[in-house]
Amino acid sequence: MEPGQCWDVGVLGATGLVGQQIVRRLEGHPWFRTCWLGASERSAGSRYGDLPWLLNEPRPASVNDLFVQRATPGQAPRLLFSALDASAALDIEKAFAEAGHIVVSNARPHRLDADVPLIVPEVNPGHLALLDVQRRQRRWQGAIVTNPNCSTVFLVMVLAAFREFRPRRVVVTTLQAVSGAGYPGLPSWDVLGNVIPFIDGEEEKIQTETAKILGTLEGNSVANDPVAVSAHTTRVPVADGHTETISIEFERPPAEEALVEALARFSGRPQQAGLPSAPRSPIEVVPGHDRPQPRLDLARGNGMTVSVGRIRRCPVLHYRLVALGHNTVRGAAGAALLNMELLAVDGWLGPPPGAGTPSCEPALATGGLAGQGGDA
Ligand SMILES: NC(=O)c1ccc[n+]([C@@H]2O[C@H](COP(=O)([O-])OP(=O)(O)OC[C@H]3O[C@@H](n4cnc5c(N)ncnc54)[C@H](OP(=O)(O)O)[C@@H]3O)[C@@H](O)[C@H]2O)c1
Repeated sequence: MEPGQCWDVGVLGATGLVGQQIVRRLEGHPWFRTCWLGASERSAGSRYGDLPWLLNEPRPASVNDLFVQRATPGQAPRLLFSALDASAALDIEKAFAEAGHIVVSNARPHRLDADVPLIVPEVNPGHLALLDVQRRQRRWQGAIVTNPNCSTVFLVMVLAAFREFRPRRVVVTTLQAVSGAGYPGLPSWDVLGNVIPFIDGEEEKIQTETAKILGTLEGNSVANDPVAVSAHTTRVPVADGHTETISIEFERPPAEEALVEALARFSGRPQQAGLPSAPRSPIEVVPGHDRPQPRLDLARGNGMTVSVGRIRRCPVLHYRLVALGHNTVRGAAGAALLNMELLAVDGWLGPPPGAGTPSCEPALATGGLAGQGGDA
């Protein structure tokens, strides 16, 4: 990439927890520049800087004067991140893809569509080839690419590190942070001093998405990996960071040292290609009998590293361990950024626009809604 060249990008769902995390991580990004923010009718028309900011890092000054837009195609740049609520994402993301936008989504509705890539860039970057199928079958000028459910990301990275030993049966219990439910999320009365042993739809997502991500591209779709996953999901009174206890049975059970070594050396296309959001180590093995912990280990790799500890024999399956990942970063915003960066280096975005020729006019806070009149 030449200095000064970058793609203009927009964020759908920019007012939510994940959307704000995307906006924050785009600040100073070497390849992408935020010029458009979209959300629901509730926020449309508001100056972004006047809306509540939910993160503990400051809101980037460069976006304060953008007006939030309605989530309809029209004035948005070609490249969009989506952090839309799942209930809204199904139709809105489709409308943008039909209108020629490349949508990199955090939301659930399209993840299991046969022609939609569900990507963890270290694990299955080759599944992006499904975009050719998507274009042929749907005749879209644009595209939809998805990243998985947050708990799925951490589990799948661990299982991918162990691929040579062929994980066959997995039992995972999640202890999921409150921020995983978005904002405002759960009533404090429900979750403070409590554990809720149910998260709607979450167990199914972990089980089905894992099989697709670890699967093999065959013709026009992905043949699921045969790994069997049994997931229990719980919500716990932690702000950020999903912890997972994982027990695994292998077809070729290794020695414990080989397991540790496989985690420590795990790396993939983002590291080889030097993608800006790629952590040096996607997985770090954390020493200590009582680690990883959300308060101590969440910031590794700028939130993009999964911490793993307590690797030991399991008397029922072969091995068990504890994994921890940042749900709104590696599990959402950072995952989407890494996906967009992968699309860029793999040529799916085309050449970046030249220096000083922005592809969209920022919807600055000079009054009114850019694109209010409907689709262009
Ligand atoms: N939180 C996590 O850890 C996490 C992890 C992985 C994936 N995800 C997924 O990422 C997405 C965003 O999650 P979140 O936690 O950021 O949720 P959130 O805080 O509830 O934010 C939802 C966003 O969607 C917008 N929205 C809601 N209804 C809309 C509509 N009808 N039209 C247009 N925009 C609408 C909201 O805009 P307003 O502010 O205007 O209402 C807001 O910007 C969800 O699909 C979620 O499942 C979340």
